[in-house]
Amino acid sequence: MKKLLMLVPIIFAFACQPKSADQTAETDEKVQDPHSFAKPLEAVVKHLDLKINVDFDTKLISGIASWTIENPSKGDEIIFDARNLTISKITLGDDEKETTFSLGDEAKFMGQSLMVKIDEGTTKVNIHYTSSADAAAVQWLNPQQTAGKKHPFMFTQSQAILARTWIPCQDSPGIRFTYNATVTVPKELLALMSAENPQQKNAEGVYSFRQPNAIPSYLMALAVGDLEFKAVDERTGVYAEPVTLPKAVYELADLGKMTTAAEKIYGPYKWGRYDVLILPPSFPFGGMENPMLTFATPTIIAGDRSLVSLIAHELAHSWSGNLVTNATWNDFWLNEGFTTYFERRIVEDVYGKDEAKMQELLGYQGLQALVSEMGATNADTKLKVNFEGRDPDEGVSDIAYEKGYSFIRTIEEAVGRDKFDVFLRGYFDSHAFNSVTTEQFLSYLDSNLIKGDKALEAKINIDSWVYQPGLPVNSPPVSSAKFTSLDSLLNQWKKTGDISVLNDTLSTNEALYLISHLPSNISLQQMADLDKKFNFTSSGNSEIQAAWYTLAVRMKYQPAYPNIEKFLTEVGRRKFLMPLYKEMVKTPEGKEWAKKIYVKARPNYHSVAYSSIDELLK
Ligand code: BES
Ligand code: ZN
Repeated sequence: MKKLLMLVPIIFAFACQPKSADQTAETDEKVQDPHSFAKPLEAVVKHLDLKINVDFDTKLISGIASWTIENPSKGDEIIFDARNLTISKITLGDDEKETTFSLGDEAKFMGQSLMVKIDEGTTKVNIHYTSSADAAAVQWLNPQQTAGKKHPFMFTQSQAILARTWIPCQDSPGIRFTYNATVTVPKELLALMSAENPQQKNAEGVYSFRQPNAIPSYLMALAVGDLEFKAVDERTGVYAEPVTLPKAVYELADLGKMTTAAEKIYGPYKWGRYDVLILPPSFPFGGMENPMLTFATPTIIAGDRSLVSLIAHELAHSWSGNLVTNATWNDFWLNEGFTTYFERRIVEDVYGKDEAKMQELLGYQGLQALVSEMGATNADTKLKVNFEGRDPDEGVSDIAYEKGYSFIRTIEEAVGRDKFDVFLRGYFDSHAFNSVTTEQFLSYLDSNLIKGDKALEAKINIDSWVYQPGLPVNSPPVSSAKFTSLDSLLNQWKKTGDISVLNDTLSTNEALYLISHLPSNISLQQMADLDKKFNFTSSGNSEIQAAWYTLAVRMKYQPAYPNIEKFLTEVGRRKFLMPLYKEMVKTPEGKEWAKKIYVKARPNYHSVAYSSIDELLK
């Protein structure tokens, strides 16, 4: 029954997917998201009034999600997504007339369809519900797992399809709604959402939120903890636990500058405030672009502002992603490829060309390594992917980011930056607050930039980028003067064995480049020499730590082992954890060691991190 239910939309979606750019693009309305049970053509949500209570003792979120809906088909049913939710009752209208509902069979990672009986004229559906204590979006931290060690903390991570584990919703990036929320929390804690936010605690522990712009469900977010706010300028600022706040404010001093730089390129920032929330270290991502309030890992606080391009990335999503959104998770590259491009434009503007070029080259080399690891004929290396029947979260890879980036760069290179900027600005303006499929973007590209120019079309070669696996041959050249000079020093060291030929200090990018360009048969003595000179093992820079520790595991460089254990236990960022654990499980002793650490570390990880690692350590 469930299988059938899932197959119908999937067949519908993929059978009519155009294969190449010159075929007619589909309109928004026709695209059925294979990762949602909702049927928005029949009945669709427009606004949410959320009233919830956050209970740290029971680890439950409970309350009412009141959805304002449209019912264009005049049918007698609206379908929501739900996963692990207990629904006590559902009522219709402001007078809360009770209605009937049923839940479909449970499907892996998809959860259940929630089918609610409505009338032709129904405009409001009130769902009374409680989440489960192990809701996949939510992480509940005890005081020991926070920086301050005194108060508990909770946060949600809804992307890609986890919003349905804490709010019954039509959980598809193609469906948008505005929201208001009232959230009750313990009196000593502050609640924040992806909306207009309070800047300080109140005595009641009841907080009201308003998101006046229509957003998709994956951008619903909530965090509750002992949090304080400090402004950076009039429209940007930082939230963090009190002990973290000063360091965070220092690190993010350029928040205002970055926002202004972004606006200069792609037009006004349309969301009002732009604030950043620094979470406890278990946050599973580097950053999450929750509207008006980026959620970020504390591992970007390196002390020297060298990792803030991650914030440029999340800020860039305020245009690519939050304003113009991928219609389904198969179009994920539209979100991340554009954002990686925009991120580097912001970095170039604020920190200069050298910095942007170094990041571009590191990204490109990472992409080459990934494509060779996945295999150049692997269908998952296409930009337009097919995650049908798979958890979209498990399919997230650097392909969307870096191959997406290279494709955008290819277009920029082919038409020139000035023309491309005008085009992109027009694209964001004309699609603002809408969701877009790959085909719709390609059709817009065709009518607004390519305009029948066959030579240009051939030069860009859309098909090979979007619909073919591997890396097209027309990738734009990438080079960095800084890395070229580092290369020659590295070669000298490799030849002479004399470590003093290397500069005494390295920037973060240079250190990352060096670590990824060491000889594959590097000796333990050479590692010790490098470590003595650059202190990689005891680095306070998480990117350097992650890269160096992965190498240390591969080469069995034991002096780093205690710090590796500490890192794996304290940090929950999946991007760092996965390569380390993957390296460890390559040998039987390594796997034993990994399992031993994991017993202690797993309670500190969010479900999106431990789900991936559970698989690996099975
Ligand atoms: N939106 C993503 C995070 C994400 C992607 C969450 C897919 C769930 C599913 C966010 O913008 C992101 O890309 N974060 C990166 C940082 C970036 C600089 C590459 C991360 O967390 O590492
Ligand atoms: Zn992103």
